[in-house]
Formats: sequence, structure tokens, C-alpha cells
Amino acid sequence: MDKLVIRGGNPLTGSLTVSGSKNTALPLMSAALLTDGPVTLTNVPDLKDIHTFRRVIEVTGTTVDHEPGHHRMTLNAGSLTDIEAPYELVKRMRASFYMLGALLGRMGKARVSLPGGCAWGPRPVDLHIEGMKALGAEISLDQGYVVASAPGGRLSGGCMTLDPSSVGATINIALAASLARGGSIIENAAIEPDVVHFCHMLQAMGARMNGVGTRTLEIEGVDRLEPVDFENCPDRIEMGTFMIAAAIAGRPGSAIEIRNGRTDHLGDAFLEAFKWTGTQIKERDGVISVVPPDELRPVNVTTGIYPGFPTDLQAQWTVLMARCAGNSKVHEIVYPDRFKHIPELQRMGVNAIIVGDEVMIEGGKPIQGTSVMSTDLRASVSLVLAGMVAEGETHVLRVYHLDRGYERLEDKLSGAGIDIERVRFDEWADPS
Ligand code: UD1
Repeated sequence: MDKLVIRGGNPLTGSLTVSGSKNTALPLMSAALLTDGPVTLTNVPDLKDIHTFRRVIEVTGTTVDHEPGHHRMTLNAGSLTDIEAPYELVKRMRASFYMLGALLGRMGKARVSLPGGCAWGPRPVDLHIEGMKALGAEISLDQGYVVASAPGGRLSGGCMTLDPSSVGATINIALAASLARGGSIIENAAIEPDVVHFCHMLQAMGARMNGVGTRTLEIEGVDRLEPVDFENCPDRIEMGTFMIAAAIAGRPGSAIEIRNGRTDHLGDAFLEAFKWTGTQIKERDGVISVVPPDELRPVNVTTGIYPGFPTDLQAQWTVLMARCAGNSKVHEIVYPDRFKHIPELQRMGVNAIIVGDEVMIEGGKPIQGTSVMSTDLRASVSLVLAGMVAEGETHVLRVYHLDRGYERLEDKLSGAGIDIERVRFDEWADPS
């Protein structure tokens, strides 16, 4: 196992480059299963989750030619024969559950492991399953697997209202509905940029969709979809993480440039809250400049579905608030128990307490370096951020969580002035 060692206090300077979106690349890869010809995806981030999903897809007989260094992947589902997504792989990455919609759509049947809970608590997939039933699938559970089939080999299509709106369920249902016999409507569909970009790929493949980017997504099934070359969009959560990194660790009054990102994908709530901290954002020729103020102002946030404040930036926001002069609150309503980072941040001297589904933060206290444990993807990056501004050395353990969603983070940060390195570390060795 690796750990990251960060010697805090160096200012962040220069520029950071955003990689392709993890949460968009996964549904794009799933969409490739809906056609029997080669699909080439570009701007695919080189991440552990992408490698895991590649393996899930290969189990079906689909060939995948992956060039991680070039961020390119060609999938050919012409040889797809197997309809199973095994537990051993699905348990490593929940989004593997997209295989349900992709296989049901393409093959009329699927056997996909239920993903189980996640690091910070339960994450149901009931809406995905109800959605498949609404499209005409017969579903049963068999030893932890969802076994689904379409009577007559092809789904009929149907209507489903999502409550709450769900990114994953919208994608899964859209995958299945694209090749259905009839029409489908998803009410209260997710409109996150990841979902919209995925729908654009389906449309480029010949899917008939109306209302993309609105709460009512209409899909008229077609007999076949065509191969396509498609470019993935930038990772909006990495973009937001870099903006927060710039605000806390940049030099007041000096710009840090962020390249290849898109601020419009972050949603208004994040951008408004970010500006309220006093940090300036300027955009020119696709480069976003972030200029930290002399003193950061505290801003309360409440997470929400897009364009609300992203739950995936909530842990990072807590670190930003810890650097402000004053008190603030972070209210988490998407995943009310997503606070595994708080006890670790407390160990670093951050004065934050959990009260129900809120975190109260007293800003301005010194942050101290120590050994802390990554517990999930976004929690782990919040510890790295804290380490960048901590006094002394911070050791972030279990960085495999971080590697799921941040491509070469330590290289990017060290290229921008941060003293950070990855070292081999045996967590279970006796301390000498
Ligand atoms: C996706 C993102 C994840 C992000 C989340 C919310 C991917 C791979 N992951 O996860 O990083 O944190 O969106 O923006 O894209 N829900 C149900 N039943 C369901 C499905 C969801 O009740 O069947 C609830 C969830 O518990 C949650 C809300 O719906 O409260 C939104 O979750 P959802 O949008 O589905 O998240 P994911 O797609 O799993």
C-alpha cells in the first residue's frame, strides 16, 4: 500500500490541469456495449475505477483496447456474449451496476451483482431496479445477484418517476431504454453534466431522445445504435477540488491557472459560494484563474442535486472553511452520513463537529500535520488539502481510495509547488 507524505506550508503556484471526468467516462464506456462495432473514447482519465470497469466489461467478451497514457480507449462489443457482472469486480466499484441497463438493452438479459453498501453508508439501487421493471423487465434476486430478462428478448419501454432524482438510475434506465421496442419517459431525470454528456453520446450513436438536460427525458427505442468516436468531458469534481486548493494554498492576490476544466459544469451553488469566500475567478481562452483573497470569508453550504452544491465537494469545502476567519456550516442532504473525513480532520486540529446531517466548523485554528487515514475518495482528497496547509508533515494512508478518482494527483500538485511524494508503506508492520 502507498501513502502520501506532504510537508505543508509551500504555496500553490503556476498551473494545474484537469483530467477527463471519471463519472462521465464510466457511462460512456457502458454506452459502447449498445452497439456491435468499435467505439473510441478520448480524454479517458487513467484511474483505478476506469481499469476496474474495463475488467467488468471484458468479462462479457467485449474487447477493450486501452491506452491509458494517451487517455484513449476503443471498445468493441461485437463479440459480447456473456451477460454477467461478477461480485468480485462490482464490489470494487459501484458504477459497475450500469451493466444492468447496458446488458438488458443490448442482450435482453443480465445477471449483475448487487453492489452492497459503500464506505460511508448505505447507497440503495432500488430506483435502478424499479426503472428496469417499468421498462418491462422481469427481475429476481439470486444469491446477491440481480437477474433480469426482457420477455421476448427485448424491453417494451415504459415510464418511471425518480424520487429522488438519481444520476445512476437515470443513466441505467436510459441505457436500457435506448434499444427498447417502444418509448420511455424518465420523470425527474438527473441533469448533472455527466448525464447530459452521456446522453449526447447516445444521440451521436443514433438514439432518439428528447428533453436532454431537462427533468423529463423521453427516449424512443431504436433497433440498433451505431459505433461512434466520442470525447469525454473534463472532471468537474477535480476542477472544484483544484479551485479549493488554489483558494487555501495559493498566495493572496496571485493567480493560479486551471487548465482543461469547465466552471459551468460545477453548478451555480458552488460558484456563488466560492465567490462569497472572497476568492476571485476569471476565465479567459479556456483557462480559469483563481485568485485567493487576503482573508477568506466563511460561507455556509447545503449540498443538493445539480445545479446545487455537489456532495462530492463537501469534504473539500470543510477544509476551505477551516481556513476562514469565522464559523460556518456544511449541511449534507444527498448522503446525510457522508462525514468519515471529520474525525481525521479533527486529528489534524480542525475544529469541526458533526451535528446530525450538518458539520459546524470553527475556522482559523492552526492545522497540524499527522498521520491520517483515507476512508473514501472525496474524504481522502480533503486530507491532502489539509496537509498542504498544515504545520509539519502529514501522512495520508490508504491512498488507493484517492487513486480511484484523481489521476496522478501528487505529480500535479508537486508540479505546482506543493511538497508531496508517494512512498511505499506497510500499514500492518510493527512500528520500529
Ligand atoms: C453519483 C456519483 C457520485 C455522487 C452522486 C451524487 C458516479 C459514478 N457517482 O452517484 O460521485 O456523489 O452521484 O451526485 O457518477 N438513491 C436512491 N435509490 C437509488 C439511487 C439513488 O434512493 O436507487 C438516492 C441516493 O441514496 C442519494 C440520491 O438518490 O441520496 C442521489 O444519488 P445518485 O444520484 O443515484 O448517486 P450515484 O449515481 O450513486
